[in-house]
Amino acid sequence: MKLTLKIWRQKNSKAKGELKTYPIDGIEGDMSFLEMLDVLNEELINKGEEPVVFDHDCREGICGACSLQINGEPHGPDRLVTTCQLHMRMFNDGDTIVIEPFRAKAFPVIKDLVVDRTSFERIQQAGGYVSVNTSGNTIDANAIPVNKQDADDSFNAATCIGCGACVAACKNASAMLFTSAKVSQFALLPQGKVEATERVLNMVAQMDKEGFGNCTNTGACEIECPKGISLENIARMNREYLSASLKG
Ligand code: SF4
Ligand code: FES
Repeated sequence: MKLTLKIWRQKNSKAKGELKTYPIDGIEGDMSFLEMLDVLNEELINKGEEPVVFDHDCREGICGACSLQINGEPHGPDRLVTTCQLHMRMFNDGDTIVIEPFRAKAFPVIKDLVVDRTSFERIQQAGGYVSVNTSGNTIDANAIPVNKQDADDSFNAATCIGCGACVAACKNASAMLFTSAKVSQFALLPQGKVEATERVLNMVAQMDKEGFGNCTNTGACEIECPKGISLENIARMNREYLSASLKG
């Protein structure tokens, strides 16, 4: 395949970025999107030009490091896959592909296609954990029975990889889907009940402090989420928040 890439280039967080055009040839359908960028970078390095900086780690859809807004969609045109799992067979010979970083005030661009997503880590640190008794008297987790449906729903919420596509897809740059997944995975389990009140209040407060927008029930986040995190989690977080506020 012969393609035309229009890639966002930005020297640093302060610099003004712009889309630059790169023609590329010899791309095969079996290559992943990131392998296609590897080919481009090899060509740029051989020409003595600066390679395009982009985030990646596992390249297996697990870590959430890869991002990229591809032709206006977070993680590109396929569904339930991350950018690293996206294959070039989703594109046609002669296509023009526009590649940009995830756009949100709370995800400032560091360089080229890499954004700073530490705002997500700060939301997680505000309450996305359970305290455990490490005194030697720890209760075996299996000693507490958990309803099968709750266990399944909790597990599904826990599959959120913190990639940020939900924020990039949202017209308000809301982080409600991410935060609600992190709240839900504990809210559904007995182990998470102990700190439930502070958890939801603190995580939502941190989310607002980071500058993420509000949810207006558009649902774009659910469609673009590579892990199929459901909007039901947002409804659950709203219920948790209401009951925590009444207690507080
Ligand atoms: S909810 Fe989905 S889109 Fe948002 S961070 Fe988690 S995995 Fe990514
Ligand atoms: S590089 Fe880890 S999810 Fe894409």
